[in-house]
Amino acid sequence: MKFGYFDDDAREYVITRPDTPYPWINYLGSENFYGLFSNTSGGYCFYRDARMLRLTRYRYNNAPTDSGGRYFYICEGGDVWTPSWMPMKSALDRYECRHGMGYSRISSAKNGLAFAQISFVPLKDNCEIHKITLTNESTADKDVDIFSFVEFCLWNAFDDMTNFQRNYSIGEVEVEGSCIYHKTEYRERRSHYAIWAVNVPIAGFDTDRETFLGLYNGFDCPKTVFAKKANNSAASGWAPIGSHHIRTHLAPGESKTFVFTLGYCENPDNQKWERAPQPSEANNALGVINKAPAKALMEKYSTAEAVDRALDELNRYWSALLGRFSVEAEDKRMARMASVWNQYQCMVTFNMSRSASYFESGIGRGMGFRDSNQDLLGFVHLVPERARSRILDIAATQFPDGSAYHQYQPLTKRGNNDVGSGFNDDPLWLICGAAAYIRETGDYSILDEKVPFDNDEKLAESLFIHLKRSFDYTLTHTGPHGLPLIGRADWNDCLNLNCFSKTPGESFQTTANFESGIAESVLIAAIFAFVGPDYAEICRRTGRAEEAERAGKAVAAMVETVNRHGWDGNWFLRAYDAYGKKIGGRECEDGQIFIESNGFAVMAGIGLEDGRAQKALDSVKERLDTPYGIVLQQPAYKEYHPELGEISSYPPGYKENAGIFCHNNPWITIAETRLGRGTRAFETYKKINPAYREDDNLLRRLEPYVYAQMVAGRDAPRFGEAKNSWLTGTAAWAFVSISQYILGIRPVFDGLLIDPCVPSSMKNFSVTRHFRNAVYRITVDNTAGAEKGVKSVTLDGQALERSADGFVLPALGDGKTHEVITLMG
Ligand code: BGC
Ligand code: NOJ
Repeated sequence: MKFGYFDDDAREYVITRPDTPYPWINYLGSENFYGLFSNTSGGYCFYRDARMLRLTRYRYNNAPTDSGGRYFYICEGGDVWTPSWMPMKSALDRYECRHGMGYSRISSAKNGLAFAQISFVPLKDNCEIHKITLTNESTADKDVDIFSFVEFCLWNAFDDMTNFQRNYSIGEVEVEGSCIYHKTEYRERRSHYAIWAVNVPIAGFDTDRETFLGLYNGFDCPKTVFAKKANNSAASGWAPIGSHHIRTHLAPGESKTFVFTLGYCENPDNQKWERAPQPSEANNALGVINKAPAKALMEKYSTAEAVDRALDELNRYWSALLGRFSVEAEDKRMARMASVWNQYQCMVTFNMSRSASYFESGIGRGMGFRDSNQDLLGFVHLVPERARSRILDIAATQFPDGSAYHQYQPLTKRGNNDVGSGFNDDPLWLICGAAAYIRETGDYSILDEKVPFDNDEKLAESLFIHLKRSFDYTLTHTGPHGLPLIGRADWNDCLNLNCFSKTPGESFQTTANFESGIAESVLIAAIFAFVGPDYAEICRRTGRAEEAERAGKAVAAMVETVNRHGWDGNWFLRAYDAYGKKIGGRECEDGQIFIESNGFAVMAGIGLEDGRAQKALDSVKERLDTPYGIVLQQPAYKEYHPELGEISSYPPGYKENAGIFCHNNPWITIAETRLGRGTRAFETYKKINPAYREDDNLLRRLEPYVYAQMVAGRDAPRFGEAKNSWLTGTAAWAFVSISQYILGIRPVFDGLLIDPCVPSSMKNFSVTRHFRNAVYRITVDNTAGAEKGVKSVTLDGQALERSADGFVLPALGDGKTHEVITLMG
């Protein structure tokens, strides 16, 4: 069953009924101010940090789901309704929600009154704009009362949902004209406040939730709206909200537009007040805040025209970004995902890391060291400068020995002590991210940037030294078989081989009840074999020949170790536990074969020359493949194993315990391209791509335009159901797999390699790629029906010579467009 469709020309997903199988959301915002926006106008917004500076309140895991957002209530002709369907679940005569690039539109109608809402965050301002247009489509005059509604969060979202003994007494607001100012804690330690404003005079307002709704009413039944009269309530403690009451009249055919601004404003410390609070005065005269920044913001968006201009700018920004990589192909589902939605999701994961989605509460997780490096892989071609500074931020949280804080906080950019360190794959991802940046840009100067260790300027060294410490950390932390020690966990956060937790509530990721110094990871060895050659190549290209040689040897030795201790006969092992027992081997009762080590080992080229790579991928297909993607391991763990940790705590088929963990499916896709099996590679690509499951929404449930972290595996009762959309490394890896390995347009140190690996049925496609200040229009002719192999390439009509790496387009850097014709076969 379908709930909408892709409008490719508009780059929008159009949702045609509001009761989607789960809230289908979009992200508003590009750099500092963000909103999560569902297809029924639910969600919330924050400035820079979803935990510390949250403007509006949102209740996760609520019943009904997704209640809370920016709501508009309409009273007309004796009827009261909410045009975004929620929260009243009004029976609408029309409904449509269009999620686009950084904006969403909802349009609906009831009783001859049409409603149109466009919501977005302007490029350079810290606010959400909601432009509302009402149109009288009937032949009679209409008197309409509109009530707006947002509920403020008392800034720190964690405190906001836990510390009620304090919170119920601290809420403060001011109202002036048509603007409601939320100023809780402004008098003491904050110099910021939030506004909720509209660009027309209002008939009244409310700022106290209980007064507006009635204590025992939900958002679907606000007392004030039914009474058609605002109370001009002033919040004092409890729950501050913002509600405007607008009375308007619409003649037949007439339209009226209102601009609402939900914004964040900051004042310099010495200019906080228009009239400072007087210590001698009673509590009700706490001072008048300096409204200058709010007034400037309201002034800027005081007209519909100004809003439309800002929206145009946003559209131009996205056109320019997405113009940097786009595909034309017969397979529309692949083309739209690769050209638009996959890259859009990569931008969102770059911005959010794993902080705020409908599955991440925005209070728990900062920026992941591992996650942010991987996110870069799908983002670096969009805005290389931002990728550059992100790499430097991440590196600054590294410890001097090369290990890393697993997470850092976006506001302070400091490592997060609560989660700590010891995830032994982390250091290697820094090499992976930095190498991707250099391949994209050719900018080796990043290696010379001085970057602190552990945020301590005194410990600053060049980024190159950071990479070296990453490389060496792996080499100096090996176990009995010479394989890298796993530490707290590797990429699989749930393979906690030194945790041995028997205490409820203990964190699997930070607890070590048993520091074995023995448990080893074949996956880390394979990651080392994959990124190590990049490190060696970077050394070679920057005049560090000796180090390049040392690195090359270390990689070869690690590959040897994997061959000796990491091969199980038909596939690669996964790990050795704290007793030196195999994980992911044929003699294991459960967890005999894992996806991760097999994908990464083949990506690294291990076993390519002697048939083991093919054997490994055939085993993956035989044992792990399903119609919805490849499960993480089999058989699923049926019991809890303290020596394995969180992985065995999940019910079979979910999450890391044999769920389809989409993040590492592209590793198999890429590995298949190394074998030249284009048909199989594309098959694995399609299985996790949501656009191919658009007709299967009732089972899959989540947005058909973005990847999810997990789809329930075949051991789970809900096999095929997706969870955790948006913030997942799947986005970056899926984009790498399609753009660089299937379509085969891959940045390498010398230029842009053309090396497609496609199903033989894919007869032609073309890619436009911006690369180091030139544009390449690459058409690929595969009338030969090959799966891999390029016969010839012409660049602007001249035959290109094949190098040892294959056909590599030089970085022309002339700002011009170049025609590239590729013949497969
Ligand atoms: C999840 C992992 C996640 C980890 C870290 C676990 O509960 O299963 O997917 O990476 O928590 O927060
Ligand atoms: C989600 C985490 O964000 C990521 O870092 C980890 O690799 C996967 N889960 C697998 O556990």
